[in-house]
Amino acid sequence: MRIDGQPFRTIWPGREPGVTQIIDQRHLPHRLVIEDLVTVGDFARAISEMHVRGAGLIGATAGYAMNAAAQAARDSGWREQLATAAATLLATRPTARNLAWALERQRTATAKAASLSAAREVTAKVAREIADEDADFCRRIGEHGLELIRRLSQAKGGEPVNILTHCNAGWLAFVDYGSATAPIYAAHQAGIPVHVWVDETRPWLQGSRLTAWELGQEGVAHTLIPDNTGGHLMQHGLVDLVIVGADRVAASGDAANKIGTYLKALAAQDNGVPFYVALPCSTFDWDIEDGLREIPIERRSEEEIKWITGLSRSGGLDSVLIAPPSTPGANYGFDVTPARLITGLITERGLTPARREEILKLYPEQRADNRPQKTTTQQKR
Ligand code: MRU
Repeated sequence: MRIDGQPFRTIWPGREPGVTQIIDQRHLPHRLVIEDLVTVGDFARAISEMHVRGAGLIGATAGYAMNAAAQAARDSGWREQLATAAATLLATRPTARNLAWALERQRTATAKAASLSAAREVTAKVAREIADEDADFCRRIGEHGLELIRRLSQAKGGEPVNILTHCNAGWLAFVDYGSATAPIYAAHQAGIPVHVWVDETRPWLQGSRLTAWELGQEGVAHTLIPDNTGGHLMQHGLVDLVIVGADRVAASGDAANKIGTYLKALAAQDNGVPFYVALPCSTFDWDIEDGLREIPIERRSEEEIKWITGLSRSGGLDSVLIAPPSTPGANYGFDVTPARLITGLITERGLTPARREEILKLYPEQRADNRPQKTTTQQKR
């Protein structure tokens, strides 16, 4: 997508060998800061401290990180060194499925490498493939979701379709296009009038800092709302459709996404508003059936709730305390929306009801009898 009219991805190989570049999202929307990542420690910090975030981009970053690990490895014991790097990366953030998915993909590739130099070559290739596929999956999610928006637009006689989204499942959460935003960008480019209600998404403000910014860069009409406004808008017929992203989706269709998503799904059901979850195949966790009990939910520092950072009137970035210093806070990063509240999933292979049997019709290779048996040493999150 574009920044000031220039096409950008969120992650790309730098010009210097061994350098990967990212947009450090902590500074958006106020500053565009490009950061160089070189060591596995750089990559792990970038993921855990959210310089990069969003399931797809976390996966793509892990892909490049494993190439950095291979470049830095010494000949003696290189397989163990790669395994240690993978364990470090896997521990950075627990909920996004794409992280373990990307690491597993690199592990499978390096298992076949006969030497360290072959491992260096193959991890570079796989990192590129993960990033390119992520962008392509999102582009295809956009094509399938576009038809949904087109039908709503026709039903409204061409009046703008009002879409509510939570957090940032935009291109900044992936390599390009986004999941929840891809259908919106596709509709906008097809000349279908759309308007997006952007939940600000406390406490990290992915909605106000990132989604509002990227929609603005693409010229998509949008309005920022506090997180607790969606129910009121739905009661008054001001939301035609909810599209959110996902960090991990169980085989049953239960979907983990940014904290607060579940409340939007409840409000949507009460008001008869269609509620869709957009995701690429890399976000499915085929080993998990009961999302509510089995998806690990990240808890982050209470500092993120009690302090807020923004641009001060003097033009610098400032943090201020917005709660009594001694008040304890609970910062759950995600919640799980049960499949029964989800109208459908928008995937790169098409739309499907959020039900095991229906999902497997799109992904028949994931049926138990078609899946390779896991070895005990394989990573599992
Ligand atoms: O904590 P984040 O910013 O990494 O969480 C991201 C989300 O939860 C987004 O809502 C997104 O939908 C899922 S990532 C594609």
